[in-house]
Amino acid sequence: MKRCYAIVWFFAAMLMVCSTGWNLLPFSVAAVGPPAAGKNATDKDNGALFTAFVSVLRNPRCMNCHSSGDFPRQGDDSHPHTMNVKRGPTGFGLTAEHCSTCHQDHNLAGAHLPPGAPGWRLPPPSMPMIWQGLTDAQICESIKDPKQNRGRNLDQLVEHLTEDKLVMWGWNPGEGRTPIPMPHAEFLAKVKQWQAAGAPCPTT
Ligand code: HEC
Ligand code: HEC
Repeated sequence: MKRCYAIVWFFAAMLMVCSTGWNLLPFSVAAVGPPAAGKNATDKDNGALFTAFVSVLRNPRCMNCHSSGDFPRQGDDSHPHTMNVKRGPTGFGLTAEHCSTCHQDHNLAGAHLPPGAPGWRLPPPSMPMIWQGLTDAQICESIKDPKQNRGRNLDQLVEHLTEDKLVMWGWNPGEGRTPIPMPHAEFLAKVKQWQAAGAPCPTT
């Protein structure tokens, strides 16, 4: 009879384990969260620290001055600048139509009026700093290359990326234009993390 009780208890215990087990399952699955979380932290060898902020460089607010061709672009669709505006011999436009004819050192109020920041211009034709059409790896190599970034070392590059007036303009682009969506503080933190790790680039 004792043995019989023991068997009954055993099955009762098994039943409890199983049922609580099944009950807990949905909670534990939910707690794990999306499977891709944390990928960036482990993947830095393949340039994940760079790709974490490359979306900023690819944003039209930056690309419109870092795009292919000898002219700036406009809008979220990056159409060629109207009025046949050209890069010109130094990036400041053609002599007859300098950028500063229309662009001042600040945004003009009102939709479709020229945006502005100090030194508004394109990079010069001798070093055009074109990123359009490049892979993430190529953009990374290009901005680090002193032959393509006007002799900047890593510290100077990071300073430019995080403080330059034309770069900062992307977060305050004037009426009717979409600012860069990643908060500036987050961009700054990501660039510094990349710098601290030795500025690794993606391999592909
Ligand atoms: C004749 C006036 C004029 C000249 C000259 C001019 N621009 Fe513009 N530019 C404008 C106006 C106006 C806008 C705004 C258009 C709008 O918002 O619809 C604009 C917009 C832009 C934008 C778009 C910003 C964005 O992200 O949408 C860029 C970039 C730009 N200009 C660069 C330049 C550069 C660089 C030069 C000189 C090489 C230059 N512009 C010369 C009038 C001019
Ligand atoms: C109005 C045009 C304009 C806009 C907008 C602009 N840039 Fe530039 N950018 C330039 C010019 C001109 C230079 C060259 C400056 C120099 O060499 O002193 C440059 C240089 C750079 C460089 C260093 C050279 C290189 O390619 O390594 C970086 C990095 C850069 N820009 C990042 C950005 C980022 C990020 C944004 C957007 C948040 C941006 N720029 C928006 C005109 C622009």
